[in-house]
Amino acid sequence: MKNKLLNILKPFGQEHLLTFWDNLSPQQRRHLSVQIESIDFPLLELLYVNRNHPTRTLDLADKSADPYGYKFSTVRNLSSCIALKPITSQEAIVAGNVALSGDENFNRENCSLENSNQEKNFCTKNRSGKVGAILVAGGQGTRLGFQHPKGLFPIGVVAGTLLIQIHFEKIIAISRRVGFNIPFAVMTSPATHFEILESLEQNDYFGFDPADVFLFCQGTMPTLNETDGKILLENQYSISLNPDGHGGMLAAMTRKQSDKNLSVFEFFKSRGVKYLYYNQIDNPLAQTCSPEFMGYHILSGSEFTTQVIRKKDPTEKCGNVVRIGESLHMIEYIELPDEIARRTNPDGSLHIWAGNTAIHAFDLDFLEQMTNSADKLHFHTARKKTPFIDISSGTIVKPTSPNAVKFERFIFDLLPYAKNAIVVEVDEANHYAPLKNESGAATHSPEQVQCQMTSQFISWLRAAGAIVMPKTPIEISPLFADSEEVLIKKIKPGITFDSPTYLRADLC
Ligand code: UTP
Repeated sequence: MKNKLLNILKPFGQEHLLTFWDNLSPQQRRHLSVQIESIDFPLLELLYVNRNHPTRTLDLADKSADPYGYKFSTVRNLSSCIALKPITSQEAIVAGNVALSGDENFNRENCSLENSNQEKNFCTKNRSGKVGAILVAGGQGTRLGFQHPKGLFPIGVVAGTLLIQIHFEKIIAISRRVGFNIPFAVMTSPATHFEILESLEQNDYFGFDPADVFLFCQGTMPTLNETDGKILLENQYSISLNPDGHGGMLAAMTRKQSDKNLSVFEFFKSRGVKYLYYNQIDNPLAQTCSPEFMGYHILSGSEFTTQVIRKKDPTEKCGNVVRIGESLHMIEYIELPDEIARRTNPDGSLHIWAGNTAIHAFDLDFLEQMTNSADKLHFHTARKKTPFIDISSGTIVKPTSPNAVKFERFIFDLLPYAKNAIVVEVDEANHYAPLKNESGAATHSPEQVQCQMTSQFISWLRAAGAIVMPKTPIEISPLFADSEEVLIKKIKPGITFDSPTYLRADLC
């Protein structure tokens, strides 16, 4: 067996993976050999050789034009979006609600939690809509430096609510409005799967019916030492693997999950889903299945719609959505030369303005067609701090600066292949507060995310006529209210909040 493996490894200079072979148990040897045999070494070598080459040509940025799109109703700036077809926010909301509820006569009066059954098992099995939701939670969260999956981070400022609980409560809130459970897929990775599953089971899926949740695990790629391209070992018998990026979702959606004997596509199709709402676990402000957002997607005939925020700083570290000809592209900030990023329109506004929020809507058919051409999602290189075993000493090294290269696919690379792709401009305060960095960091730290969440809750309470004393920590569960509109119906004007408060439906 050792010789067979050496023959696989030698042509690629990776024989060090067998350094500890002679000391391994039969089970550990089996584990390591399965890992080695599943690696595409020629691909890995090619990716390493090309790791410093930008995946796009820089002239892409040079040729970019304003993306077609719409403005969300809560955006207050004066800039306009170029729409190919006029759609009002009211029309979008109605279309989104009809698709979500599967009911042509669904009207906005129904959009109140008071009218819905608040019991835990509120699912109306004989009705279904055309919208499903997917939450991606497979990332390693290296920058956050939290010992558990990011989804288990206690972000709630009063109750310490976990990120994942917020997303589950949001899907429950919208499900209650439409009268049945919206099918919900959650992508994990080997790095996050078991802890997320355990948390869901311990917490009774936060009140959602597990039958309507499809947990699935994405694939991985070996992690390489940056300086020499050697595959890192996590321990004596395991290769260091990183999740293959949120773009890994596409391939993972086609695989049948043994516990259900269904793929994610089959799960959604069996529920009548045509449109898929997507967001990432790190953003507690994402408005799950927003009817207005889904409505723009549906009415514009777009196959891939993405929410963007207007950049304040031209060189902000975010992806940039641009149009080249008739298709949309995402240009990453590292691939956008500063002089192009700083270009302005005659009115002084930024030419490249649309920053990525990673909240998308897809046509399910489009995603499924794209699985036939997996190469459409090329690999990007990321540099990360990755612990590894030093093969000369056998000790674990915990680097303090990035030492490793990881190869990841990004779901937004599908944008150029989508027909009629559009952006929907949203306001940061109501949609985007991703948790990325550790406490004390300049941006996207836990404190900053909590501050954005609190500001949003306070602004809803004030809109409802409540008085909130300065510096009062407030947390509102999506089960109590997941929007200002819903909160206004539940709060008596004049009520004062002067001590830490957690508003949650089943606690009131
Ligand atoms: P990021 O690219 O910010 O990565 O992921 P991350 O894992 O959260 O954090 P770092 O970069 O290691 O510090 C954005 C979103 O995409 C998901 C993450 O869980 C997060 O919600 N993601 C990322 C996946 O689901 N799978 C991946 O392979 C990568």
